[in-house]
Amino acid sequence: MTYIVNESCIKCKYMDCVEVCPVDCFYEGENMLVIHPDECIDCGVCEPECPVDAIKPDTEPRLEKWLEINTQYAQIWPNITVKREPPPDAKEWEGKPDKVNLLSPNPGTGD
Ligand code: SF4
Ligand code: F3S
Repeated sequence: MTYIVNESCIKCKYMDCVEVCPVDCFYEGENMLVIHPDECIDCGVCEPECPVDAIKPDTEPRLEKWLEINTQYAQIWPNITVKREPPPDAKEWEGKPDKVNLLSPNPGTGD
């Protein structure tokens, strides 16, 4: 198994998660992060750190699509280990439906 980042992260991108991961397996896109499923050691410490509940174990139902997205983008986006300022309008995007359509394939800056 692995943990994955889901739709709730899109345009919120709070980055609290990256500070606690013991194996630095978060990767940064323009408007969300993903977890590298082959690097995640399933410790679970990042899950409660996310203010919008965007991190879930992939054993939960209906997360197949997000496992694919995490797997795909973790290979091409840069690694991120240090939290930066979230987007200025992050709060407005909390809990909004259908954010998957807004997922940017572009990489973030990483660190
Ligand atoms: Fe990192 Fe642990 Fe979260 Fe996996 S479950 S991404 S290893 S903090
Ligand atoms: Fe995204 Fe939550 Fe991390 S919003 S960047 S998964 S703290």
